[in-house]
Amino acid sequence: MDNPARYMLTAALPYANGHLHVGHLTGAYLPADIFARYLRLQGHDVLFVCGSDEHGAAVTMRALAEGSTPLEIVNKYDSSFKSSFKKVNISFDIFHRTSAELHHETSQEFFRKLNSNGDFIEIESEQYFDAEAGQFLADRYIVGTCPKCQYENAYGDQCENCGSSLSPRELINPTSKLSGAKPELRMTRHWYLPLDKHESWLKDFISNGNLNGQPHHDVKKWKNHVIGQCKSWLENGLAPRAMTRDLDWGVDVPSEIAGSEGKKLYVWLDAPIGYISASKQWAMDQGNPDAWKKYWQDDESALVHFIGKDNIVFHCLIFPAILKAHGGYNLPVNVPANQFLNLEGQKISTSRNWAVWVNEFVEELPEYIDVLRYYLIKNMPEQRDSEFTWKGFQEANDNELVNNLANFINRVVVLTNKYFDGKVPQPDPNEGIIGSDYADEFSFLDAELLRLYDMTYAVHESIMKYDFRAALQGVMEISSMGNQFLQNNAPWKLIKSNEQGTANVLNHGLQIIYVLGHLLSPFLPEKARELLSKINVSLDERSDAILDMMNKMAEGEELLKANHKIEEAFHLFSRIPDDVIQQQVDKLHKQGSLSSDKEEINNLKSTIDFATFQQLDLRTGTILEAEKMKKADKLLKLTVDLGFEKRTVVSGIASHYKPEDVIGQHITLVANLAPRKLRGVESQGMILMTENEQGKLVFIRPDQTVSNGSEVS
Ligand code: MF3
Ligand code: ZN
Repeated sequence: MDNPARYMLTAALPYANGHLHVGHLTGAYLPADIFARYLRLQGHDVLFVCGSDEHGAAVTMRALAEGSTPLEIVNKYDSSFKSSFKKVNISFDIFHRTSAELHHETSQEFFRKLNSNGDFIEIESEQYFDAEAGQFLADRYIVGTCPKCQYENAYGDQCENCGSSLSPRELINPTSKLSGAKPELRMTRHWYLPLDKHESWLKDFISNGNLNGQPHHDVKKWKNHVIGQCKSWLENGLAPRAMTRDLDWGVDVPSEIAGSEGKKLYVWLDAPIGYISASKQWAMDQGNPDAWKKYWQDDESALVHFIGKDNIVFHCLIFPAILKAHGGYNLPVNVPANQFLNLEGQKISTSRNWAVWVNEFVEELPEYIDVLRYYLIKNMPEQRDSEFTWKGFQEANDNELVNNLANFINRVVVLTNKYFDGKVPQPDPNEGIIGSDYADEFSFLDAELLRLYDMTYAVHESIMKYDFRAALQGVMEISSMGNQFLQNNAPWKLIKSNEQGTANVLNHGLQIIYVLGHLLSPFLPEKARELLSKINVSLDERSDAILDMMNKMAEGEELLKANHKIEEAFHLFSRIPDDVIQQQVDKLHKQGSLSSDKEEINNLKSTIDFATFQQLDLRTGTILEAEKMKKADKLLKLTVDLGFEKRTVVSGIASHYKPEDVIGQHITLVANLAPRKLRGVESQGMILMTENEQGKLVFIRPDQTVSNGSEVS
């Protein structure tokens, strides 16, 4: 299926529990949008869907944190998404919601079908229950100490410190986030998808691109990091995964099914089906309720999921298993997931408010929306994590968009107005240009048009490989080439001696602008439209304009015909003043630190009495020795001098400190914590640490004058 005419494109449904930030944009929505826009301009049939993911613990926890209801939360963020996406011009055909009735029905239909096919197994197991709150606890509602790195605020499904995925039962000292109570285990029954039974075809699907023993997609076109993550899951072996939950917010397990009471669909058996229900809603809106089927069920259609790397296993293994078990649906031909975007040297963090929020950007800097798109595409984390800095944003604008692109366009337009009355000059293919070295069989113009075609084709190939950074760079190279072309032929001098030569140069300069206007359109849709309107060209985004342009170039046909009128000169981009950038940097640091204060207050643990406190034995000490632990990236083995004795302590600080950096460090130790074995080494105590504003772990140090072994009280 090399060049299918029909594409079903999906972008991860964002959790309706917070505003969009720039990491979301560059992770999933911009790449999907570029691809969708480009395909449309090639004349392909494209359906591009998204929507709000409104269920799951992500939403209910947010309601808890904001002192609000899940419904209020999803309404608030769903409308925030809609307006942000609109302002950054993400060209969804529909942005739907998983709270919609149609979605509930669609995902229930999936449950029914899999259930009646016998694709589930029912398993009874013990799960944590909060007796004070009277409910079973979602994994995210349980916090405790990570068994791998000892981080104390690990969630029941994942430790955000060391990244390990966990199950609630592995947590040491679990507590309920709902009430602060210690949860108890209770029996409950759930439907599981036995992923182990799907392992072998999934292996063939991921490693060889086969489905049912037939070639399905080209694995060479998949990103290495995507295949790598899937293979590592497959190598560890897939286990049955619960597809239902004991929750009160979500899609009900269909009520006619025995044992459904109080049970909701697991959010990953709900949200991805949102792609399908969104498509159904779109079809209904078209007045053709069956129109969605050809995108999902016709094997001539190519399904592509755009997501961030945290969603890889769900889209490459679990959702395909669900779709295949259901039957009748296409499986993805590619899942071009992106990695993460960092911000000014730190991870983007919603809880620390370390983010550039899209809803704020579009209000504060509306004139720079396409500059944001440009900078985010230029730094898209396609193969590895990348970085957003405000300085980088300014430099990309000033050095590339202003100095290269806008400057080239401006020069050609100014000279055309000056020498040729604002009309595309009549070219003469027989007129050579001084200093040119074109092969005999090509005229000057044909040769230049061919060069332009080749560069356009390179952009095309990059886009089709999901290589959007390279593609955008390719567009900018066309602009650089244009500048070089002007420089080489110097029409402002040539005009004195050779008017026809000058006409040829500017004619070709205008052809380049026409190409730029088209090729920029998937990347910077507003600026492309503005540019094209200045040369009086209208671009119908649902046409085959780029295909048509490429065909013409290949035939050596001019794109803008002689005498076509253009507008007055203009500047497509202008410099960003330093104070605009500084304001944003200041704002980021201010909001970032403010919220870490807030967070401390929010996370205050429940009150203990004095006697409980007195049970703690805290002592001062000095680190004497430190070494890395084998096969444990995060752990250091330390020897701590307490004056009266030496202790071995295993500490999860290796990603923050090298062994040599901590030797001699004064520390405070919890000296009567029960010893624990970590990777075979007994740890006899815990060193007190806190996190500074940069997110680095730092020691709680006693004053210099205090000697080792002193009691802290
Ligand atoms: N809401 C999830 C997230 O933000 C993504 C869901 S993707 C879908 O990580 F496939 F489930 F829709
Ligand atoms: Zn951990």
